[in-house]
Amino acid sequence: MAKKTKDDIPMGPTGRPYHGFDIPAPLTSHGPARIIALCNQKGGVGKTTTSINLAAALAEYGRKVLAVDFDPQGALSAGLGIQTHDIPTIYDLLLDHKRDAHDVIVHSAVEGLDVLPANIDLSAAEVHLVNEVARETILSRVLRQVAGEYDVILIDCQPSLGLLTVNALTAAHGVLIPLECEFFALRGVALLIETIDKVRDRLNPAIELDGVLATMYDPRTLHSREVLERVVEAFGDDVLETVIGRTVKFPDASVSGVPITEFAPEHPAAQAYLRLARELVSRGAVA
Ligand SMILES: Nc1ncnc2c1ncn2[C@@H]1O[C@H](COP(=O)(O)OP(=O)(O)O)[C@@H](O)[C@H]1O
Ligand SMILES: [Mg+2]
Repeated sequence: MAKKTKDDIPMGPTGRPYHGFDIPAPLTSHGPARIIALCNQKGGVGKTTTSINLAAALAEYGRKVLAVDFDPQGALSAGLGIQTHDIPTIYDLLLDHKRDAHDVIVHSAVEGLDVLPANIDLSAAEVHLVNEVARETILSRVLRQVAGEYDVILIDCQPSLGLLTVNALTAAHGVLIPLECEFFALRGVALLIETIDKVRDRLNPAIELDGVLATMYDPRTLHSREVLERVVEAFGDDVLETVIGRTVKFPDASVSGVPITEFAPEHPAAQAYLRLARELVSRGAVA
């Protein structure tokens, strides 16, 4: 980061000035939530890690956050230390519209961060919902029950473009696309954008692309830098300035069941997620 721009701001990895972004002003009242889906049908790109740590970072800035685990693997729930066998989950809310979401929401150990947990039951949801009337809007109706009480709701999508993901996109105001700075990062992204466009056309005209987040970036490898360059060529200013570096701290933090902002608050990766939270507030994606 040796290069500087003319205003003496260091040049960031995306080739734009690397702003620090101001600490967001505290909120005096809460809600209604802006709903953001974290989506990429490729697995292992950092959707869950970003959902957990962005949620914790926003909570640290005083936002009331609901993280929705929308992947039958339940990795978001586990990463926040929630045991999901034997408790009601998002699956029960999808299947029984009379159930109250408040009874399923769990408080995490992080103040201000609540979770709608999931477990393997959710893998049966697509089959059960396929014959429902307005099957794409079921999650939207569930979240409507609680949206007034949160400032932001983050939906951690499963790695597919199936009915669950379409439900997430239909419920969302914005989409955040994590992209791993690795070979084939952009493969499949055209299909994802096409899916978002279809949802905008048919189900959710107001949905916006909130940003593309480069993850697992390693500035020491030419390869990582080249991939990021190509991502910036493809998405321009939609690429968030904040870039998440590759570090072994994430696997460590997930095993411990707490976000990295709590596990190792001074670590550059924790600082990166706090910065991402500030950037999203400054872009108006979050209150
Ligand atoms: N910035 C990072 N550096 C190193 N490992 C990471 C990073 N982000 C995530 N990981 C690890 O990569 C794996 C996949 O990440 P995850 O967030 O679960 O992706 P997804 O939800 O898209 O499948 C996990 O083991 C996670 O701990
Ligand atoms: Mg995941």
